[in-house]
Amino acid sequence: MSLVRLVRVCGIVGYVGHRPALDVVLGGLRRMEYRGYDSAGVAVLDGAGALTVERKAGRLANLEGRLDEVGRERFGGTAGMGHTRWATHGAPIDRNSHPHRDASERVAVVHNGIIENFAALRAELEADGVEMASDTDTETAAHLVARAYTEGDTKGDLTASVAAVCRRLEGAFTLVVTHADHPDTIVAARRSSPLVVGVGDGEHFVASDVAAFIEHTREAVELGQDQLVVITREGYDVLDFHGDAAQAKPFTVDWDLSAAEKGGHEYFMLKEIEEQPEALANTLRGHFESGRIILDEQRISDQDLRDVDKVFVVACGSAYHSGLVAKYAIEHWTRLPVEVELASEFRYRDPVLDRDTLVVAVSQSGETADTLEAVRHAREQKARVLAVCNTNGAQIPRESDAVLYTHAGPEIGVASTKAFLAQIAANYLVGLALAQARGTKYPDEVAREFAELEAMPAAVQKVLSTVEQVRDLGRRIADSKAILFLGRHVGFPVALEGALKLKELAYMHAEGFAAGELKHGPIALIEDGLPVVVVMPSPKGRAVLHSKLVSNISEIQARGARTIVIAEEGDETVRPFADELIEVPAVPTLLQPLVSTVPLQVLAAEIARARGYDVDKPRNLAKSVTVE
Ligand code: F6R
Repeated sequence: MSLVRLVRVCGIVGYVGHRPALDVVLGGLRRMEYRGYDSAGVAVLDGAGALTVERKAGRLANLEGRLDEVGRERFGGTAGMGHTRWATHGAPIDRNSHPHRDASERVAVVHNGIIENFAALRAELEADGVEMASDTDTETAAHLVARAYTEGDTKGDLTASVAAVCRRLEGAFTLVVTHADHPDTIVAARRSSPLVVGVGDGEHFVASDVAAFIEHTREAVELGQDQLVVITREGYDVLDFHGDAAQAKPFTVDWDLSAAEKGGHEYFMLKEIEEQPEALANTLRGHFESGRIILDEQRISDQDLRDVDKVFVVACGSAYHSGLVAKYAIEHWTRLPVEVELASEFRYRDPVLDRDTLVVAVSQSGETADTLEAVRHAREQKARVLAVCNTNGAQIPRESDAVLYTHAGPEIGVASTKAFLAQIAANYLVGLALAQARGTKYPDEVAREFAELEAMPAAVQKVLSTVEQVRDLGRRIADSKAILFLGRHVGFPVALEGALKLKELAYMHAEGFAAGELKHGPIALIEDGLPVVVVMPSPKGRAVLHSKLVSNISEIQARGARTIVIAEEGDETVRPFADELIEVPAVPTLLQPLVSTVPLQVLAAEIARARGYDVDKPRNLAKSVTVE
């Protein structure tokens, strides 16, 4: 059985070391706030056999207020764990918040994911006389661990008890477990849900995200599927769910704490918009050497790339829009048919795939459940899967044949910005690698395309130097009821992306259209004063499309629309039709989305600010969506 519902990744952190655990755990939870949550909790082992738990619905500040009320001195140990929850089973109220305990209050558990067989487990526990204190699936795990610890083969052995429980659980989970009898130990386990270990000096961490411990150590270990880790002050042991030693992958986190901080900006998103030139440069870095495109972690051979006869790009949201942009380039460069599909639709419609199909799975987080399922489906059909991902070691790259990391750095604002631009650039690298392997472009043409890509960070920097005008415009149109976005060719996915940004950040009705579709319906929406953003192609690069769009603008202007035109510098033809003109540098047509998207990101963020919304944490949304 698979539960179909939307679940966000909870934030999890566990610590055993020499510092006050409460401070470390709260610091870790703060760093993971971007994931979205509706309650928070902590548990601390005091070393003398006491396990103290506090949890509270709402923001972390509520929990901290509660800790002050009860007295933080009660949480005096150096081992503990914490959790930020996004409700799945049971409402976001105090008693459903994690950690959950067993009846004796000796065991505490935090959990991310869904225990799919929890109803049966709960019935079994209730039949045994256990009284449930919450409506959650997680609580069953606490009782099961406590029971395993007190009876049978696993009696008195916390690690074996947790392993035995994990073997019974169905679904996706990260579990972190403490027991008052073991004040210097934390046991954590994972299946299809993220868990990393932080390796410090005389201290160890477990977390759903390296951000939770990067302040303390950059040495990390990524746990594999169905693995369990036992951390103590001195070290860590990785086991499988049968208790046998297992191998996990050590790595060094290549971004520092300041990269995850706002860097003086009001919002992470604004900082991330500004980081786009650097993100693009990082995506491209090292991918062209000795006259050839190199896909660094390529495990698809040149011969396989030559055999490809069809490309699918599968992704969700903004990542999907990056695929729509890529279609124009990949088809043009390789003459291969490219289909771009929403990952949530892909596997349910029986797509035609075989071993000569290349499926490009694009995902910033690498955790998106729809995209992950699309990857699994494609691999079952023997297609080759290349992941384009921003998160090292995430599930999607792990399950793919090859991976191209975007190296855009951590993206904390929920709305994708720098990761989106990096995805476009990475998709282009895939297109060029295909063209190179298949010989549809000569080496000097590939080199020229790459050189044009390499010029893009400077072009984006130039756009950034002119955003004040866009901010001002944003404030002036912040009261609009709706905004429409129009584009043609690669400007069409840019229009879709502009509309998505506005919907998610400003909660404003927004639609993106292919401008040619106007007369087939959407023009009926035009009314006096309605802002319409038009993404113009270059008058030189795409003269025919340019003149068609000029006609579209004059049609909507005649019907009262307030036209906001994004056009190439020096495009005088469009000026008379633009109530507001936003100029972007002239760049090759296929690369235009890299510059024309930027003002739309700024516009959406500024409108959201003007309307008083939290730009980094739009309502109902979180950064990673890990269940379909
Ligand atoms: C929009 C946004 C989302 C994501 C989508 C896919 O600003 O951020 O639409 O693009 O949820 O997420 P990833 O790329 O992590 O698979």
